Amino acid sequence: MTAVWEVYLQETLINEDELQAKIKELGAQISEDYRDKDLLLICILKGGVLFLTDLMRQISIPHEIDFLAVSSYGKEIRDSTGVVRILKDLDEPIDGRHILIVEDIIDTGHTLDYITRNLIARKPASLKICTLLDKAERREVEIPIDYTGFVIPNKFVFGFGLDLDEKFRELPFIGVVNPGMVVD
Ligand code: IMP
Ligand code: MG
Repeated sequence: MTAVWEVYLQETLINEDELQAKIKELGAQISEDYRDKDLLLICILKGGVLFLTDLMRQISIPHEIDFLAVSSYGKEIRDSTGVVRILKDLDEPIDGRHILIVEDIIDTGHTLDYITRNLIARKPASLKICTLLDKAERREVEIPIDYTGFVIPNKFVFGFGLDLDEKFRELPFIGVVNPGMVVD
């Protein structure tokens, strides 16, 4: 039987093994870098969820998690409007904490630019960024990325937390959307 998502898939960009191997590497590096620090991972909802849960299982030092939900895209999936709003704020203050933002993808950079400004104003001890995917050629604002999984081409992707009109986040791989299926 053909799964619904297969209709939308042009090609698999990063398969499950490649994703998991990279996440293991990132987890080891983060564990090393934050060895003596009190680490707080801040996951950007909803796209960062699968990355967060796999990443934290590869981090061998004690750490905490919190969640931030922002909106910028609404229903349209092609262009960022550059308008960002907080939909769900962090549960706890972060002053004096070592923060690592866990994000699914950085595209134009507007979302992360807004988030980092907002969080820096809360006076964390440090703030770094970990993104699974970096669509580098689309960047409009410079974002200092500390940990990158994969730099990817300018194609709309889905799976592993990333949605196609809110669907298919559950897929264990990153796929490129069939251009004929993108709803503008
Ligand atoms: P930015 O503000 O343009 O950097 O956009 C970041 C957000 O756009 C990400 O957190 C995603 O939710 C969304 N996004 C950007 N590119 C893609 C994509 O190819 N597939 C799914 N979501 C995307
Ligand atoms: Mg999205």
